[in-house]
Amino acid sequence: MTVWPEIVQIAHYGKCQEEDKDMNIIAAVDKNWAIGFQNRLLVRIPRDQQIFREMTEGKVIVIGRKTLESFPQKQPLKNRVNIILSRDTKYAVKGAVVVHSMEELLEELKKYDTDDVYVAGGASVYEQLLPYCDTAHITKIDYTYQADAYFPRLDGMEDWELTADSEEQTYFDIEYYFLKYERKK
Ligand SMILES: NC(=O)c1ccc[n+]([C@@H]2O[C@H](COP(=O)([O-])OP(=O)(O)OC[C@H]3O[C@@H](n4cnc5c(N)ncnc54)[C@H](OP(=O)(O)O)[C@@H]3O)[C@@H](O)[C@H]2O)c1
Repeated sequence: MTVWPEIVQIAHYGKCQEEDKDMNIIAAVDKNWAIGFQNRLLVRIPRDQQIFREMTEGKVIVIGRKTLESFPQKQPLKNRVNIILSRDTKYAVKGAVVVHSMEELLEELKKYDTDDVYVAGGASVYEQLLPYCDTAHITKIDYTYQADAYFPRLDGMEDWELTADSEEQTYFDIEYYFLKYERKK
């Protein structure tokens, strides 16, 4: 399995014992935990996108319909299972599984090892699925962008703890960090 090479473990909290609480959640956020504006990412950082690809290839990603439609050509990402949430029962996407409710999603996810599941946005999906996750892979960008979509602020939550971080990364004048948060046991 590929791991972020630069990451430095701060502390380790054991995995949550409850079977339905150990999916991964992955996002790139700015200083205010913003993730998007007008259905687009705030910024594209090639190294971040490469690491996202390495972490999720061969795995399962869960995304909302709007995030899928923000992708190039509105196509599912290659080499991984794409599960799309949409309430539209007529919505179909070649090469992806569409589910229509949280209940249907959780039923579908029973087919997979929860360790292999990555909740990948957008805002509405992060908010609904955070309670089912115990590991958050956060790319924290040290900048404030104009935004209209946000990730839940993990650093303000008592049950989540920063457990690993990286050296400062740079992309032109952007400074960013790879962080790992885990739900406390
Ligand atoms: N920075 C990052 O890491 C990152 C990652 C991903 C996305 N983003 C950004 O996030 C923004 C999009 O977030 P968003 O909240 O607007 O949209 P979203 O979460 O991607 O998609 C919302 C849609 O998902 C479907 N949905 C959500 N919950 C559902 C449920 N319980 N049952 C059935 N369907 C459900 C609905 O589709 P229908 O309307 O079809 O019913 C809903 O309109 C964009 O700016 C995008 O670029 C950022």
